[in-house]
Amino acid sequence: MSYVRNAWYVAAWSHDIGAQKPFAITILGEPVVIYRSESDRLIALEDRCVHRMAPLSLGRCEGERLRCMYHGLLFDPDGKVAEIPGQDIIPNQARVKSYAVIEKHSWIWVWMGDAASADESLIPPAVGFDHPDFILGSGHLDYAAEARLINDNLLDFSHLTYVHANSFGATDTWARNRPVVTPLARGVRFERWITGEAGMRGRDDGVLHDRWTSYDFLIPGVLLMTGGYFEPGTAEACNHQAPDLDDALGGITFTSQAVTPMQAKTARYFFSWGPHRRHGDEALRDALMKLADMAFGEDKVMIEAQQRVIDATPDPRIMPTSADKGVTLFNRLVEKLVRAEQDALRNAA
Ligand code: FES
Repeated sequence: MSYVRNAWYVAAWSHDIGAQKPFAITILGEPVVIYRSESDRLIALEDRCVHRMAPLSLGRCEGERLRCMYHGLLFDPDGKVAEIPGQDIIPNQARVKSYAVIEKHSWIWVWMGDAASADESLIPPAVGFDHPDFILGSGHLDYAAEARLINDNLLDFSHLTYVHANSFGATDTWARNRPVVTPLARGVRFERWITGEAGMRGRDDGVLHDRWTSYDFLIPGVLLMTGGYFEPGTAEACNHQAPDLDDALGGITFTSQAVTPMQAKTARYFFSWGPHRRHGDEALRDALMKLADMAFGEDKVMIEAQQRVIDATPDPRIMPTSADKGVTLFNRLVEKLVRAEQDALRNAA
């Protein structure tokens, strides 16, 4: 499966990019180096020197520029070579690709399409550490699996009952009850009431209640989810529509997650999670992060094993179920956007 290029991909947490310390990541098969210049400007370049392809991420920041530490070519923030030690003439082709890059919601976002068409308004509205309402922890996992399989997992929570039996302790209801799935311009929305059950492990107060969860899964692979638990009968009182979160008894949390395809069959999965200040503190955040580490490890075991089976299958085919509605809608949207990008490129040529 191919991926949308005209989109913002999460490359790192903000705190991963130190002052004047080049950071390397591969996105959509392209090596990218990101650094903060002396003036604290964020710069993203192709991580492959135009001279002999040494990684610029092993280079040295010099003011606003980055020097390749193999033979010393010096690169401007726009990717042009500014200096070749011992050579006066700099050829026109002496440049590497530069990427549009933005720091927002505690993430570093890189636009993988033409930098001139980068549209900041398309950055998904994630919740960062600077959000006044949520106390968040964060982490990431590297997958030996294609990003699409992780997206598919996040687009169908019927797996919670089985994959996360040991961590979340999700009931059968997660597999049997279907969420309301709504297509969005750049994603899919999932909303669900689970009524008359105790909370999942880690947030179980032993009392039966109605649980609301809602998340958007957005291009290129960003999940933004909130929810909480309410008095029994709230779902019915709301006609099974969205409640006012201010009426929650507790358990309001927010999680932002992003799946970034690196190579064809590797991906990085970024996540944050934590309680609303009214419903928890740093201790609860730490407990949730411990739970997340366990649960997301369970996903990784299953998805990497799934990838190995797919790779060993000559003509892999799937058989969708009714739980796959969101998966199908999202993957169709990706295909549509990729087709539109390819048509635009053809027309431009
Ligand atoms: Fe970068 Fe030679 S490879 S200067």
